[in-house]
Amino acid sequence: MVAIGAGETAAAGAAAHVATDASKLMTEPIKVAVAGYRGKVGSVLATAFQSEPGIDFVGGVAHGDDLAAFLHDKRPRALVDFTRPGEALHNALAAVAVGASPVVGTTGLSSSDVDKLETACHEKHVGGIVAPNFAIGAVLMMHLADIAAPLFDAVEIIEMHYATKLDAPSGTALSTARRLAARRKDKPFAHRKAEKETLSGTRGGEEGGVAVHSIRLPGFVADQEVIFGLPGQTLTIAHRTTSREAYVPGVVLAIKRVTGEPRFYRGLDELLGLRLG
Ligand SMILES: NC(=O)c1ccc[n+]([C@@H]2O[C@H](COP(=O)([O-])OP(=O)(O)OC[C@H]3O[C@@H](n4cnc5c(N)ncnc54)[C@H](OP(=O)(O)O)[C@@H]3O)[C@@H](O)[C@H]2O)c1
Repeated sequence: MVAIGAGETAAAGAAAHVATDASKLMTEPIKVAVAGYRGKVGSVLATAFQSEPGIDFVGGVAHGDDLAAFLHDKRPRALVDFTRPGEALHNALAAVAVGASPVVGTTGLSSSDVDKLETACHEKHVGGIVAPNFAIGAVLMMHLADIAAPLFDAVEIIEMHYATKLDAPSGTALSTARRLAARRKDKPFAHRKAEKETLSGTRGGEEGGVAVHSIRLPGFVADQEVIFGLPGQTLTIAHRTTSREAYVPGVVLAIKRVTGEPRFYRGLDELLGLRLG
């Protein structure tokens, strides 16, 4: 009787302890580190995290740093990665190995890379995310375009990026075109080529019946317009980025979500519940 009572007391004490620890974790700022903190996006995130409520920025890792030693020393609960495709998986797996949630913004990971990371997260019971676009407005722009796609027979995309961007079209434009085409399986979009193209390439590239035009100019960060057409009307869904701070709110949202539940997300749209059935 006494023993049971004592056991119960001990169990209740332990439970209270665990509950206190858990609630501490919920209320304490989340320790966050950034891989690629000297890069264009990473440096903006590192600066923003220093004044972000609920985030405790514990430091950054640059190319050539000892990531394992850094993780062991700083014990972040999330490692945000904006590095290079050949580096991001290794960084993210190293984070998961010490129980930290990977928040990967680096683009160009293969789907098998993402599969590997998801499996590692499940095995370690940590949340994680790989998202090719952390700008909430861009994700919404694509979602709204998905909704419009079945109702318009023609659409063109214009994307505008900084002059030194290496690839064209942008990954977001290509992925938008593919998503829109997928919404029109029964009746593909009508892409009209010019009967006489006096300047080659003027009608843009084409993916699934969607014309894609790329502009590269100083002054732009990452803009995109999706223009739908029907007789007598057009619908333009536009997203404009004025600085790389555009990625901060989406990354912060993702950090808070994936450090709070052991779930793995492929894309910010999935995390925001914006996937159409
Ligand atoms: N998901 C999104 O919303 C989003 C938005 C914008 C960009 N991106 C993607 O994010 C990535 C970074 O873009 P960015 O424009 O910031 O590129 P960036 O300016 O070239 O920055 C990348 C940084 O990562 C560093 N780095 C390389 N390998 C590393 C490693 N193993 N550990 C730590 N740091 C390492 C680089 O250092 P060194 O120069 O010394 O190699 C550089 O400082 C790209 O894949 C880009 O496409 C994603």
